[in-house]
Amino acid sequence: MSTILVTGGAGYIGSHTVLALQKAGYSVVILDNLVYGHQDLVEKVLQVELVKGDVGDRALLDQIFAKYNIQAVIHFAAYAYVGESVSHPGKYYRNNLVNTLTLLEAMLQAGVKNIVFSSTCATYGVPQQIPIPENHPQNPINPYGATKLMVERLLSDFDQAYDLRSVRFRYFNAAGADPQGRLGEDHDPETHLIPLIFLTALGRRDHISIFGTDYDTPDGTCIRDYIHVSDLAQAHVQGLDYLIKGGKTEIFNLGNGSGFSVQEVIDAAKTVTGRPIKVVQENRRPGDPPVLVGSADKAREILAWKPDYSKLEIILEHAWHWHQRRHNE
Ligand code: UFG
Repeated sequence: MSTILVTGGAGYIGSHTVLALQKAGYSVVILDNLVYGHQDLVEKVLQVELVKGDVGDRALLDQIFAKYNIQAVIHFAAYAYVGESVSHPGKYYRNNLVNTLTLLEAMLQAGVKNIVFSSTCATYGVPQQIPIPENHPQNPINPYGATKLMVERLLSDFDQAYDLRSVRFRYFNAAGADPQGRLGEDHDPETHLIPLIFLTALGRRDHISIFGTDYDTPDGTCIRDYIHVSDLAQAHVQGLDYLIKGGKTEIFNLGNGSGFSVQEVIDAAKTVTGRPIKVVQENRRPGDPPVLVGSADKAREILAWKPDYSKLEIILEHAWHWHQRRHNE
């Protein structure tokens, strides 16, 4: 039986994708170093083989490709803290770029030529046009976005030289949780807006900070395009099907095409939780573009992808349910 290798499958988007792959009938093996991934969720919820180790460990990769009949790779494993990428760029270039090169070389040696890759809207930098289309210029403003852009470039060159075909997804803001509450977002440290709002509602944090109220947006706070993690996961299954059927290398934005400000997200979360949430206004966070909203028309057309949970309230409800469960409330 052929198997899909999912790197970073114990992480937030990776674990939801493993669930979607299982539903679609795929057999999965996860490679995850568990620096940020959750072994308990793999064991209790996903119940698939977990190989503990690094994507940069060539000997381990060779063992995996020798042991399993790997049909394709879905590559999530990466560091994704934008601020840390500015203070510790080497860590990001090594893990996100150098280790991906090792993975691609191991794939080629094993004759595996299909890969779905997690890229990001952070590769665009400050947008010149909203909603952002895939052919928008890419000028990342932080090392995290730069590492992802370099991997995109690597994939283009490997396609040209070795026929290694890829689907690259540029995610906007992943949010929400498995609608059945089995999986969700649990970062340590947590830096993302929606989990921090809910940790505040749960009383685990004193307040939520708004980073910047003087942006050139209607209420002065940053606007983002929040996309449900289960919709992202489903796109990966469809991207994989597309590659396996022989589709050519493609790049797709994954977003809902509508933006919500930080203030709007906090207000909606107050309604969803029915709880008071203390808000503190702070200075801008360096490296934050004022507005990031993407057009996913191409994924809709070519992959026939259609988000099931595009409403912000639903995204927040699923996330709230998960956070309550994860923190035993
Ligand atoms: N924000 C706050 N207060 C917080 C946390 C965040 O006001 O405590 C604001 C941010 O300034 C930003 C918005 O909420 O305007 C969303 O911030 P997140 O940290 O949740 O998400 P980002 O947009 O910074 O990051 C996401 C992904 C990155 C990706 C990036 C692309 O997590 O991996 O989108 O810009 F690179």
